[in-house]
Amino acid sequence: MLTHDENQLLCHVEGDAPMGQLMRRHWTPVCLIEEVTEPDGTPVKARVFGEDLVVFRDSEGRVGVMDEYCPHRRASLVFGRNEEGGLRCLYHGWKMDVEGNVLEMVSEPAASGLAEKTKHKAYPTKEWGGMVWAYMGPAEQMPEFAPPLWAPIAETRVTIAKVILPCNWAQILEGAIDSAHSSSLHSSDMVPARVDGAKATSDRWLRPSTDKAPRLQAERTPYGFRYAALRRPIKDAATQDYVRSTVFVAPATVLIPPNNLYNVANVNVPMDDTNTAFYFIAWGNPAQTPETETWRKFLRQTVGVDLDSYYRPLRNFENRFWQDRNAMKAGNFTGISGFPNQDVAMWVTMGPIADRTHECLGASDLAIVEFRRRMLDAVQEFQANGKAIGTGDSVAASSVCSFQAIVPKAIDWRSYATTYVWEEGGAGADTEPSYNVTSR
Ligand code: FES
Ligand SMILES: [Fe+2]
Repeated sequence: MLTHDENQLLCHVEGDAPMGQLMRRHWTPVCLIEEVTEPDGTPVKARVFGEDLVVFRDSEGRVGVMDEYCPHRRASLVFGRNEEGGLRCLYHGWKMDVEGNVLEMVSEPAASGLAEKTKHKAYPTKEWGGMVWAYMGPAEQMPEFAPPLWAPIAETRVTIAKVILPCNWAQILEGAIDSAHSSSLHSSDMVPARVDGAKATSDRWLRPSTDKAPRLQAERTPYGFRYAALRRPIKDAATQDYVRSTVFVAPATVLIPPNNLYNVANVNVPMDDTNTAFYFIAWGNPAQTPETETWRKFLRQTVGVDLDSYYRPLRNFENRFWQDRNAMKAGNFTGISGFPNQDVAMWVTMGPIADRTHECLGASDLAIVEFRRRMLDAVQEFQANGKAIGTGDSVAASSVCSFQAIVPKAIDWRSYATTYVWEEGGAGADTEPSYNVTSR
């Protein structure tokens, strides 16, 4: 439970809100590369931290992320002409390049010199891991772009489902660090099986446990925290634990435990206080990480089928998330198809910003409590000395990763050295564990 003020501090990101300012010290994904593939193609609207942006690829293939509104009289540049090295506003023909230089001011006399004096707000950009990134903080504090933990090397396949959700970023993020919910909400899609570790099949994820009440243990780290959910495994429950260890990388990334084939991450980008771009990412070896179409079908997040052309879900409160009550009577737990859609129904129906002053938290919410404390402490530190969690000496080391494993009870999960999944660990369903975990 949080006070009203704490909840606002955690959730608000617009304008001078400290959480938004903290987030601006990081490189931030603004859209998918797939939205702006073509030089001189259609510009795209994005919204980040309450700011409206236009994203475009110029004639030479450079990506620009700029203030959406023309520096002249604020017409939207999303509808501008993308031509010959810049974006030209339709209204009076001013033209800006990817750095915000005004190349032409056709409505002004050349002698005025206004074009040289005017600079449009444009952010430094980077393309990596399927995303277009921008740095939206103070120029003098810009960190060098570093590959995120979910796209460590150029060879990584990064497959992304994008969903625009009408609610605050923090309640979405809390879903990713809430191991307990999957045993109920996703019980029809993530089913217990006699396997040695989490397995991905073409239509579901298998788990080696029926335990719905995990014991949670958290460990605070400079970059955020990590925690383990310990469950009784189906086999050898007297001597073994099934451990699922999730990593929170501030400000808004979660490394979810992998399956036998690939790694999984969530990235939340606040568009404003009450809307979020949610990215559900599968990543790893191209030989065993699903391709975009397969991944989006699996998650039921296909544009044109589950989402509109702006990545907004077609399932919503008004149409009851297409919930099938007959399927529920027949045994399906939620009646909502696609497990992320089950999450979406929970996140969105909490309201635009979840009211954390009215909650009843239990032992299984330990990671949720740690997330809130961690970020509220981080905001306070940021306000006190300007240090943003996850930058400078609190950047997560590249070795940080999530894992899942059936391990001896006697050994503390914190002592395991882990690496992300690259090769499939086992030759078959019941032989070797699928993760790469070794005792230090
Ligand atoms: S408003 Fe864009 S050129 Fe006038
Ligand atoms: Fe979930």
